[in-house]
Amino acid sequence: MTADQIVVLGTGGTIAGSADAPGDHVAYRAGQLAVEHLLQGIPALAGVRLVSEQIAQVDSKDITPATWVRLAERCAHWLDQPQVRGVVVTHGTDTLEETAYFLERVLGPRKPLVLTCAMRPATALSADGPQNIADAVSVARADGVGGVAVVCAGRIHAAADITKVHPYRLDPYSSGEAGPLGYVEDGRVRLVRPCPAPAAVASLRQIAGDRGWPRVSIVLSHAGADARLVELLLDDGVQGLVVAGTGNGTVHEALEAALAAAAERGIRVLRSTRCVEGRVVPHASDRWPAHPLSPVKARIDLLLQLLAA
Ligand code: SIN
Repeated sequence: MTADQIVVLGTGGTIAGSADAPGDHVAYRAGQLAVEHLLQGIPALAGVRLVSEQIAQVDSKDITPATWVRLAERCAHWLDQPQVRGVVVTHGTDTLEETAYFLERVLGPRKPLVLTCAMRPATALSADGPQNIADAVSVARADGVGGVAVVCAGRIHAAADITKVHPYRLDPYSSGEAGPLGYVEDGRVRLVRPCPAPAAVASLRQIAGDRGWPRVSIVLSHAGADARLVELLLDDGVQGLVVAGTGNGTVHEALEAALAAAAERGIRVLRSTRCVEGRVVPHASDRWPAHPLSPVKARIDLLLQLLAA
């Protein structure tokens, strides 16, 4: 059987957003239009064997563990089908990097799983969603692509590297020092480095099921930080803490004392950095393990570790 089918899963976001006026790029409602609607009228999709499914219809700032579980299950289902070449997920830009990393860590897919998005609602005079969808489908069909990738504004990013760095411009993402995986130019995919080998660290069985997900929060170390927030989180039953440290993952002494007290009570603590580039360089004298990626991605790994425990 030829694996030539592309599955497009809709989850909402600005790409499915609608505004009262075509010039309105800020005051719109995300997650309004069905995924089938988003696929209509894109010339590059003519002749592509497409299937679509609506998984959710949310503004991605409001995404929940239940939506992540459902999305992961549907991605796994479709990626398993012999006729499927790859899966595209339409998603809001705000938490896209978290969903992409979550899917990579849970599914570690060998086939392409490509997330895409838009910064302007579908009703905008010059909406960016249709081109991003066309580019994402090109990437999902391309040779040499595997694992979880994100396509936006003609650039292809790896799930581990991508961060949203701008609240408004059409290309809001950066892959930092790693740079993008490649580009999509007039429907042609040009990879400038190999796609990273996917590395699943958890399973669908571990993330699904009736028990709730562990409570894992991020605390920021900043000038004038104190112990209070961590104390409140402990009272509230937090099970894991990621500290977004300054510089090389350093922590204000008052916050550090509170984290030490939390660790003594069995709470897992991970250190990350609030710097947008680079990664924490670990040292033998570190009090808590350092995570190489951003605080939001460190939080996903801590969640998965606690779910697996
Ligand atoms: C969202 O993340 O769902 C809204 C913002 C966006 O997609 O740009």
